[in-house]
Amino acid sequence: MKFRVGVISGDGIGPEIVKEAKKVLDKVGSEFGHEFEYEEILMGGCSIDATGVPLTDEAIEAAKASDAVLMGSIGGNTSTSPWYTLPPNLRPEAGLLKLRKALNLFANLRPAYLYEELKEACPLREDIIGDGFDMMIMRELTGGLYFGDRVTEERNGVMTAVDTLTYNENEIRRIAVRGFDIAMKRRKKVTSVDKANVLDSSRLWRKVVEEVAKDYPEVSYEHMLVDNCAMQLVKDPAQFDVILTENMFGDILSDEASMVTGSIGMLSSASLNETKFGLYEPSGGSAPDIAGKGIANPIATILSAAMMLRYSFDLDAEADAVENAVKQVLKDKYRTIDIMPQEAERAGEVTQVGTSKMGDLICERIQ
Ligand code: NAD
Ligand code: IPM
Ligand code: MN
Repeated sequence: MKFRVGVISGDGIGPEIVKEAKKVLDKVGSEFGHEFEYEEILMGGCSIDATGVPLTDEAIEAAKASDAVLMGSIGGNTSTSPWYTLPPNLRPEAGLLKLRKALNLFANLRPAYLYEELKEACPLREDIIGDGFDMMIMRELTGGLYFGDRVTEERNGVMTAVDTLTYNENEIRRIAVRGFDIAMKRRKKVTSVDKANVLDSSRLWRKVVEEVAKDYPEVSYEHMLVDNCAMQLVKDPAQFDVILTENMFGDILSDEASMVTGSIGMLSSASLNETKFGLYEPSGGSAPDIAGKGIANPIATILSAAMMLRYSFDLDAEADAVENAVKQVLKDKYRTIDIMPQEAERAGEVTQVGTSKMGDLICERIQ
């Protein structure tokens, strides 16, 4: 079959890691008889440089016209890049938020899984790691603080900034339903994370989640306050199956979860709407500190491409092949620098490789 893939390479390490994911898709194409046709879409800092804005209307149309979008990352060093002297709505991140909203990508799936082979890259103690862990963070992606009214102004002679956090019950219900649906295909446990001891939006969140839970009697669910969840993620990550949470909490908790799997360079993601369309991107950023060095870990982007095969194209065998190839490459003891064992004496047991070599090694293992 033929698929049209919109490609947002973006900024920093974005083009380096996307190149490897395309290599992997092309290998899948030749092994399984598919054709992936790519159309490069400008977004982020590179779009600002080329067009003056982080996302043009044409770019949105190109994304809508594709079967799915594969993305690297956008943005630069927020302290030093000239992009961050622009008004907020013209900065790189504004492009990403605009695209998520325009495509109604309300459900962000971030699977955090500890590969057996990466136990030594996990910063947690062995007794905490135990048999490992496997959780799915379901992050609401088009509401909350990210999309509320905001203003910075002088009030009574004092500079004041306001961000607002809004959720309506429909927005909460649709992400909760997704979370429980996914739990039914996993270990049937949902932890809904909020701050209901302080926030009205969280109290509504809790009420709606309880209503949705009634339709899923087989799923056990609990509520957890977000500060406790941050702590539990490092105390006992194996307790989690599906973590269901709002936009900002999901952003923060998913970076934390990524680190206990070894590295942010391992955490893939899918942003979905009510259709088969999706935007697939690593959860991490443009990593300006390592951009251009050829050392970024491409695995999160490659696993995001596997999610694209599974969720947008219904190509389960092909997605399995990519995921198995990633497992095999780790078993064969190849590592990018971010997932090298921490103890020096064990580092000699594995081979350190760069971004492009890691892509090649994964391609070789796809069959
Ligand atoms: P970051 O995720 O870019 O980097 C944090 C740390 O993780 C850095 O040390 C980086 O080197 C490392 N890292 C990230 N991805 C890696 C990979 N694939 N392999 C190895 N190491 C990796 O976060 P930041 O520095 O806070 O943000 C940099 C820029 O990225 C900002 O402009 C931010 O807005 C943007 N950002 C974009 C996205 C996205 O495009 N979806 C996501 C997060 C951050
Ligand atoms: C992510 C990123 C984005 C977010 C930024 C770049 C706007 O951190 O995808 O996790 O906060 O959603
Ligand atoms: Mn983030």
